[in-house]
Amino acid sequence: MKFRVRPIARLHGEAEVPGDKSVSHRAALLGALAEGVSEVQGYLEAEDCLRTITAVQALGAEVTRKGPGHYRIAGCGLHGLSEPGDVIDCGNSGTTARLLAGVLGTQPFWTMLTGDASLRRRPMGRIAEPLRAMGATIVGRADGTRLPLAIRGTGLAKAIQYTTPVASAQVKSAILLAGLVAEAPVTVTEPAPSRDHSERMLRRFGARVATEDRTVTLTPGPLRATSVAVPGDISSAAFLLVAGAVVGEGRVRLHHVGVNPTRTGILDALEAMGARMQTADAADDGEPTASLTVTAEALKATTIGGALLIPRLIDEIPVLAVAAAAAAGVTVVQDARELRVKESDRIAAIARELVKMGAAIEERPDGMSITGGRRLHGAALSSGGDHRMAMALTVAALIAEGETIIDDVACVATSFPTFAETINTLAGTTAIEVEP
Ligand code: S3P
Repeated sequence: MKFRVRPIARLHGEAEVPGDKSVSHRAALLGALAEGVSEVQGYLEAEDCLRTITAVQALGAEVTRKGPGHYRIAGCGLHGLSEPGDVIDCGNSGTTARLLAGVLGTQPFWTMLTGDASLRRRPMGRIAEPLRAMGATIVGRADGTRLPLAIRGTGLAKAIQYTTPVASAQVKSAILLAGLVAEAPVTVTEPAPSRDHSERMLRRFGARVATEDRTVTLTPGPLRATSVAVPGDISSAAFLLVAGAVVGEGRVRLHHVGVNPTRTGILDALEAMGARMQTADAADDGEPTASLTVTAEALKATTIGGALLIPRLIDEIPVLAVAAAAAAGVTVVQDARELRVKESDRIAAIARELVKMGAAIEERPDGMSITGGRRLHGAALSSGGDHRMAMALTVAALIAEGETIIDDVACVATSFPTFAETINTLAGTTAIEVEP
C-alpha cells in the first residue's frame, strides 16, 4: 500500500484521535487477570492492540465486543489463565510481547510468543533477565533474548528489587505484572521515570502500587474488575499537532487527548520551538485528558535531550524531526539511543528518508542534528514498515514542494487506522491518496 501525498496550504478544524495504544494494551491485560467483568470504552481498534485481545482470548479470557472500541472482558483471575493451544503471534507489537511475557513468566504452563520480522529483531533480554530472576524459565533465539520465546513460570514469583538499565515502561510493566503473584512486594527502579499507565491502571484494578521518585513498589494481590475509559493517544495526536504547526495556515483542535505528564514531552518540545498551543477541557478519569489546539506558526530550532525529557517523547521523535526540518536553525536530538531498537532504527530511518526530500540531517549514535529551514521537495520514500515513520513522512510531504510517494504504509493500521482520512478532512481536500 502507498500514500500519494500532495502539499497543502491549510489544515483546519477539529478531530478526534483514536484511543491510546499503551492504555488499551493494559486494559486488555488487566481485564483478563482480574476477577469479574471489566468494561473498556475507547479501546484502540488497531492491529497492535487487537493482538493483545487475541492473546488474552488464547489464554482463556472471554472478550465481547459491544460496539466500536467498547469491550467487555470476563477476567480469569491471577491463577485462572490456561495454556494456549498455539503460538501467540504478537505481530508488530513490542508492548504485547513484553507485557504478556510478564504475565506468562508466572503461569505454570508453557506459552510460545512470536512476532513479525521487526519484532523478532527487537531486544527481549531486557525483560527475560528480570523475569528469570523472578523464577520464569525463558528459552528461545539468541540465548533466549529474541522472539520466538517459550515462557513458563511456577504460579509464584520471587520478589525482586530490580534496577532497570533503561527507562522502559515495557520492562517496568512486565516486572509489575509478574509481581502480582510474587511472594512479597517487588520494586522497580528506573534511571528516569517512564510512562506510568501500568501503575495508574493497576491501582484502578485494586492493586497496591506505591511510587517514590524513580522507584515503584507493587504489593502482590488480586485484581478486581473495573471500568476503563481510554483517552485519545497523544502519540497519534502528535502527527496532527506537528502538521497543524508547520502547514501554512489554520488551526487544529483535538478532543479528549491523554495528557499524562509522562507522555507530554511533545507539547514541551513544540512549545520550545515556538508553536502556539492551547490546552482546555481538562478532565481526569484515571488518566488526565484535555483538548489541544495548535495554530500554524513559524518554528525555531531547539535541543531535545536529557534523561527526563526523552522517555516523555520517545515515540514522537520521528515527527519532531519533521518539525525541526521546518524550523529555523539547528535542532539537536540527543540521549535517544533507544530509537534504534523501536519498530525500526528510527534514527537511521529518519535521516535516510528526510534527506531524500532535501532535509539536512546528520545522524549521531544517540540522535541527530537537523538543520532546518530548507524547502523540502517531493520524493519516493519508504516507511520501512514502521507506522510512526509512515505518518511522520506524510507530515513532511504535506509541506514539501511537489508530490511524494510513500511506500509500505499498511503499517499505519498498527496505531492510527484513520490517519489519512483525518488529515484529508482537516485539509478539506484529498491530500493523501491511498493506493494499493
Ligand atoms: C510503551 C513504552 C515505550 C514506547 C512504546 C509503548 C508502553 O517503549 O516506545 O511505544 O506502552 O509501555 P519502551 O518501554 O521500550 O520505552
